[in-house]
Amino acid sequence: VDDGVRTFHLTAQEGRTTFPGVDGETVTWGFDGGFLGPTLRAARGERIRVVVDNELTEPTSVHWHGMHLPAAMDGGPHQMIEPGATWTPTWTIDQPAATLWYHPHPHGETEKHVYNGLAGMFLLDDDASMAAQLPHEYGVDDLPLIVQDRAFDRDGQFELRHDGAEPGMLGDVVMVNGTVGAVEEVTTERVRLRLLNGSTARTYTFEIPGHPLALVATDGGRMDAPVALDRIRLAPGERAEVVVAFEPGETVRMRSVVTEMGGIVVPATTGANDAFDVLEFRAADALAPTPEPAWAPSVHVEEDALHETDATVTRAFELEGREINGREMSMSRIDEVAYVGDTEVWEVHSSQPIPHSFHIHDVQFRILTIDGASPPPELAGPKDTIFLEPNREYRLLLRFEDYADPAMPYMYHCHMLLHEDEGMMGQFVVI
Ligand code: C2O
Ligand code: CU
Ligand code: CU
Repeated sequence: VDDGVRTFHLTAQEGRTTFPGVDGETVTWGFDGGFLGPTLRAARGERIRVVVDNELTEPTSVHWHGMHLPAAMDGGPHQMIEPGATWTPTWTIDQPAATLWYHPHPHGETEKHVYNGLAGMFLLDDDASMAAQLPHEYGVDDLPLIVQDRAFDRDGQFELRHDGAEPGMLGDVVMVNGTVGAVEEVTTERVRLRLLNGSTARTYTFEIPGHPLALVATDGGRMDAPVALDRIRLAPGERAEVVVAFEPGETVRMRSVVTEMGGIVVPATTGANDAFDVLEFRAADALAPTPEPAWAPSVHVEEDALHETDATVTRAFELEGREINGREMSMSRIDEVAYVGDTEVWEVHSSQPIPHSFHIHDVQFRILTIDGASPPPELAGPKDTIFLEPNREYRLLLRFEDYADPAMPYMYHCHMLLHEDEGMMGQFVVI
């Protein structure tokens, strides 16, 4: 149908994938292919539709992580797609350029579905991002990097271990875009990396030794100005866009190194105290010139702005065990009711020596304070997911723009998917 609506097709299916060093074929799940999914891309203001077919033998759903959209289109656990069925959400892109992603959200089964390979990127553009002179040639100097860890059993199949480890399954094989031992050929002086931690549990701290990372965007879009970093920490579900300069002819590796939280090293049981190579960059002997990142103000800057003085509601969320505010997720209980147009402050706190990755559907928030202090510059951009260091209070500022629907909730939850599946999730409606 050509009705001015940009239409995408995704088919969830099982496939077979060959991985280096693994005997035989591995059963994997993917969209439109055996493993992972295609990168979708749309621009602010566009009306879009996604035709999602489920060819798996079990129900699934597809959630648009980071997207501002009606709750009925969100793809959470209330929008299940039965085997053989089709779900066709449609909405208008109404938010800044950003690196979003999509993945299943079946209640209690999200870890398995994502782990098996159902995930892809969803890139949003707007005029400002075009004018911003960031590298933007997809696959050339603008690279999506979905980082995930996995483990294989003796038969060469994905192994999802539930051995009681916090914060869930920690694999010993790292994949980038579904590839083990990934290599990127660099042909330009600067490259934009769109990093997504698509892992079920593992938190990464990425660095490219000798190469500063110019952070240009967080989960929900551009920073007010680039931030120079030596390394960047990403918990499950978080994204970052960094611009990196390379020297002609060099070969360098992006690594994940020990993750620190406020000066203390995360305990081994949280899967963050190891270091390993993630990806190799091989720069050509002659690199095409690219401009330094430049900033043009977005025409939407005012409408996108959040102001703490507008906040009329404060809510507190305590994460403990597998509960939020003392309750495990129930599909039939609405935990919070919010009003269209309201700006709110969410105070989020994890009271155990276990980090979490707190995610809110529908909105992009700003971090006002962490333990009363301004967040570090790398956390100053728009976010929908935040690594919660234990025993610290995060104050988040957000606004419910539109899309009232008293009957259909959005989710908030820990994005460590075992935690989510085991109940660390709640539901809110916007009315
Ligand atoms: Cu990325 Cu509720 O999910
Ligand atoms: Cu989400
Ligand atoms: Cu958690």
